[in-house]
Formats: sequence, structure tokens, C-alpha cells
Amino acid sequence: MDYILVIPAGHSPVLAQAVEAWRIAPVEVAHNPSELTTITGEKGEPRMIVVGATMPNLVPNVAALKKKFPNTRLIVAGTLTPEQLRDIQADDVVRFPFPLGYRPDEDPVWTPMHAAKTAAQEEVDKPTGKDRVVLVTSAKGGDGKTTVAMQLAIWLAKQKVPVVVIDADYAGNAHEWVKVANPAQSIAAFDREIPFDRAAFEGLLVNRGGVKVLPCARVVHPDALVRAIRTAKAFYPVVIVDMHQGWTPQLILAKDFATHILVLTTASERRISKTVEFLQELKDKHDAPAKVRVIINRVKHEDEERRVRAALGDYDTPILTLPFQEGLAVDTDPDFIPIRDSGGKDQYATAFRAMATRALDWNPSKNDETTSKGAPKKPATQAKKPGWFASLFGGGQALSKKKGAARR
Ligand SMILES: Nc1ncnc2c1ncn2[C@@H]1O[C@H](COP(=O)(O)OP(=O)(O)OP(=O)(O)O)[C@@H](O)[C@H]1O
Ligand SMILES: [Mg+2]
Repeated sequence: MDYILVIPAGHSPVLAQAVEAWRIAPVEVAHNPSELTTITGEKGEPRMIVVGATMPNLVPNVAALKKKFPNTRLIVAGTLTPEQLRDIQADDVVRFPFPLGYRPDEDPVWTPMHAAKTAAQEEVDKPTGKDRVVLVTSAKGGDGKTTVAMQLAIWLAKQKVPVVVIDADYAGNAHEWVKVANPAQSIAAFDREIPFDRAAFEGLLVNRGGVKVLPCARVVHPDALVRAIRTAKAFYPVVIVDMHQGWTPQLILAKDFATHILVLTTASERRISKTVEFLQELKDKHDAPAKVRVIINRVKHEDEERRVRAALGDYDTPILTLPFQEGLAVDTDPDFIPIRDSGGKDQYATAFRAMATRALDWNPSKNDETTSKGAPKKPATQAKKPGWFASLFGGGQALSKKKGAARR
């Protein structure tokens, strides 16, 4: 019989409704294997099967369905990891909610993965002057993503650049700094595909240290993150995303919408090797136009920087550095942001500006108040001569190290 079988696997009931909206053929829904057996026993082989990507054991189950119904067009709806994408035997893999205009029955057959990628690329490629979508990420936790994301935002805000930070680190961070109790005022608002005008978007934001932040409430659905980025991008020239660490489904989707990916690392052996693996993933799987930069954080000695540079030698990626900053390591106040308060006088702030300028391909404007008050003229990269590190850490007060800086 001519029908479409939907196996929502967690997307229920919206997936079935979305398939019904195609008006191609009657829709039957199987919530479990026994319903699938009953429906296909009664009605025979379906014209099309649409499977939600959250199905457990997705790859082997799709292979089994394909074997059982060789003439059926099989579509997987949702987000897949690169490994699943590699192995999946579906005819189509399409993001869910479906991209606008997605019709699986049209000839020539739509190739949604390709189309989604092209659309993302066009958005990134279109001439937007200083527009940036910056993903701040790292291979492991605690390398300084949140610190750098917020400091970048503050640095740009000082230059009168409208900027918004998206907190996409659902697994928590050192400070639990913008977790909110009410998910309605968070990135979870993007779980559904509803349009946000400027006022509605602003209503979701909280002010943190003078910067607008879209808070995180719980696990961020990859599609929700992409919708949040696209919405933020419509209203703000610079969008900075504080990502969860590692090679995640969120990163896999969001990277296609980014102009820059900043990979934080620190110099410990374990972290370096994880960062190398992470960069290899990016190199193998990253065909989006975003520029990748590695930032070595909490650098105490030139040796550390050399070690990381040697380990990352095979990757054609600019490597930037940020020195260890005692105030940051001991601080327990999440609002403590030294570049805001230093007036540009300290060496960390100088190094930060040099890093930020290169990391974002940014020409700091004359409005950059962080450079205005007696800041050294030379960028830190030029100041790297013997003694620079010594002068940075020579006279510091002995302070006990904050736990967060060394964990994981
Ligand atoms: N340059 C630095 N010098 C000294 N301490 C730093 C520096 N950068 C960050 N830190 C400290 O390191 C700790 C971890 O930083 P942060 O919370 O920004 O990392 P993260 O990558 O966001 O962590 P998580 O993965 O938990 O979200 C914090 O205590 C922070 O203050
Ligand atoms: Mg964090």
C-alpha cells in the first residue's frame, strides 16, 4: 500500500506531523518494533520510511530496515555524528526540523545534506564586513573557553561593536555563570523553529559584566544552537559562542555557520595530545570556511609554548598565546575580567589584545578603550624577546591557585 511509515524515536509527535504536512501519502506511525511489525504486516512495504535520528542503534537499525524493505526510500531526520554519517545506509539524511522547502519526493532528488551545507556556506561567504561568528572551544574542559569568550565580548563592546555571547556549554563550567532556572529565557527557546524578532530575541538575553548573553539551561540541541546563531547573527554583527568542549554534534553543525573557530589549549601533555586529536578531526571533517586558530592559554614559560608549537607543527593553523594571569587563576568572582579593569596597563591585557586582533582578523578601532590609557604601543607578539615572560611573572604576589584552573 502507498503510505509513509514514520518511526519518530523521540521526535514524536512533531516528526509525524511534519511528514504529514508534505501531503505525499497517508502516514503511519510506529513507536516501537512491534508496531512496526503490525503496520508493515498489514499494509506491506511502505513507499517511504522516515526515521528519527535519536533512534537507539541507529546505524544497524537503518541497515536492517533497508535490507527488509529494499524498494523503500529511507530518510533519517535529525543530526548525526560524523561516524554515523559515514556508516548510515539511508537515502537521505536531513536536519530536523526540515529545512524550508524540503520535499523528499521531487525529481531530481533533493540532496539535503549538500543543500544545507551550501546554504550555510552562502551565509558565511556573503560580504558582511566585520561580521563574525566565533566558536570558542577546546578539546578538554577548563582550558579557558568562558574566560576568553567573555573577554573577547568585552573587548569588542569597548570598541562599540554590538556583540552577543551564546552560552552553549550545557555541561557546566567553572562558574556556572549564566545558568538560569527558567529555560524559557535561554537557548532552549530555540528548540522549536519559531521566528524571533529583535524584541523577542532581546527578551532572552541577560546582561553579564556589561555584555549581553544568551544563557544556557540544559543540553543544547544542535539544531537549536544553529537557530540561535542564525537569529543572533541577524541582529548582531559579532556572535561569540562559548561551546562545550570536544568534538560534539553541536560543534559539527555550528562550525558550518562560523567565521572563526578558536581552539583553546593548555600546555600539559594530556591536553596537548587531546588538542592534536581534536585538530585532526577538524582537518578531516571540516570543509566549512571558518578560520581555525589555536590559543595556548595560561602560558608560564616559553618552553611550554615551544612544546605546543612542536606538537601542532603539522597543522596549518595560526597558534596564538595568552599568558598565565594570577588574578584569573585565584579569582572566585565570575565577573572578574582583568582586561576591563586594567585600563590596558598590564601585560596580560596587552597580550590579550594581540591575541584577539589576530584570532579574529580584527582591526581594533580607535574606540578600543582598553588601549587608550597608557597601553604599551607594541603588540605582545613583537615583545616576545628574552625576559618577556620573566618580567610578566617576576614580581607577582604568591597566591594560592584556584581549583578550577587545574581541574580535569
Ligand atoms: N590566562 C589565564 N591565567 C590563569 N588562569 C586562567 C587563565 N584563563 C583562564 N583561567 C582560569 O582557568 C579556569 C578555567 O577557565 P574557564 O572557566 O574559562 O575554562 P572553560 O574552558 O570555560 O572551562 P569549562 O570547560 O569548565 O567550561 C578558571 O578558573 C579561569 O579563571
Ligand atoms: Mg566554560
